[in-house]
Amino acid sequence: MTMPLPPEYDGPRTPRPEEWDSVIELMRSVFFKERGPWQLTMRPWPLAFRGDIRENTLAIYCQGEPVSAISRLERDILTRGHTLRLGFIGSVCTHTEHRGKGLASAVLAATLQRFRESGVDFMYISGTRPLYFGAGANWVGLEAHCALDGAALPGDPRVRTRQAGLDDIAALAELAGREGTRFLRHWEDWRLVLEHGHCSGFPCAIHLVERDRALVGYLVLRDIERDNLARVIELAGDRSCLLAALASLRPTLGERRLDLFAPHGDPIVDLLAVCGVGADIPKNRGTIKAVDPQRTLAKLAPYFRERRPDGGDRPLRLTSRNGAYTLTDGENELELADEAQLLWLLVGRPPDAPGELPQATGRLRDAVETCLPLSLPLPYINMI
Ligand SMILES: CC(C)(COP(=O)(O)OP(=O)(O)OC[C@H]1O[C@@H](n2cnc3c(N)ncnc32)[C@H](O)[C@@H]1OP(=O)(O)O)[C@@H](O)C(=O)NCCC(=O)NCCS
Repeated sequence: MTMPLPPEYDGPRTPRPEEWDSVIELMRSVFFKERGPWQLTMRPWPLAFRGDIRENTLAIYCQGEPVSAISRLERDILTRGHTLRLGFIGSVCTHTEHRGKGLASAVLAATLQRFRESGVDFMYISGTRPLYFGAGANWVGLEAHCALDGAALPGDPRVRTRQAGLDDIAALAELAGREGTRFLRHWEDWRLVLEHGHCSGFPCAIHLVERDRALVGYLVLRDIERDNLARVIELAGDRSCLLAALASLRPTLGERRLDLFAPHGDPIVDLLAVCGVGADIPKNRGTIKAVDPQRTLAKLAPYFRERRPDGGDRPLRLTSRNGAYTLTDGENELELADEAQLLWLLVGRPPDAPGELPQATGRLRDAVETCLPLSLPLPYINMI
């Protein structure tokens, strides 16, 4: 629930074309103390340069000047072949002289309303502020993590890697297109990341993987200098070849340690287990909100029918009362104490979450255990 804004403020509304430069100046002044060209300062977050960024920003104005703003990005995603929609927010800022008056809360509420209207299921935020927790976002355990140092990765002399360039976008889209869990990414997303060599705040490189000169996959490696770490943040294609590619890439990383993030249920985690590499579920650095969980469950009905051992003849329904949720298949019920428990059931629980998730019973338990948490594509390339 947001309070009405004091009368001197106008918005939240989409900036007009002639107002866009002053919104950029607001963002620059909040995030970057040093003056510098926007194209240089925002380079680590290249999705800020996409063509529709103005239309996907909301701002509040005071005497004609923007004083608070949030940008957003939406993409369809597939979770094991079933379509959902992911929304991102970024560049969340309020001018120092206008803070603490509910402006960012109002822009966030308006942004969430846009997400609801356009069918977004989950909102991903790179930050972890009270502002976001207040809107119902929370920590999650979004992905599996495998440390690859000391692992005996199986090499394959037929497997080679080469760094992708702008001419490889069609190949990357083709390889991504064969994945069941992925983004339905725009061409421009690949272009911006390749052009700027960064995504979500870090340098990254995309390595195409070939076996006998045929393209079989790709790996996106993020360079995290402060942790002396190279991290796989996205992968696609033949998982055995990807492991061989990692074996061949490792000597090129020098002193950097190597680890890997993969969506829940990704087969590379099972392959790594065979190589003696275990996985854990770390706490993701950002936060997620389930935007309209009832609608998300309804969208996922075919997914549940496909995977539930009982054939899904009893559709799952979610009801909410006083902030608590009940998931039922008409026979058994699972009581979830709050929005956080529901979020963790859907997308994964962070390791330090308080208490345990309640256990479902009967056939509902089979449904939950075989279908959840969802396998969501990792957000890093598209983060804003
Ligand atoms: C974060 C920022 C955008 C907040 O802007 P703002 O307009 O002052 O925000 P609001 O007035 O709506 O809310 C201010 C705080 O009061 C809290 N608040 C609002 N209503 C509240 C309520 N009814 N009860 C309790 N707390 C409340 C909000 O959660 C928020 O907490 P936070 O700033 O610690 O996250 C602003 O401080 C800023 O620009 N910071 C620098 C840039 C930045 O860090 N951006 C976020 C990147 S993740």
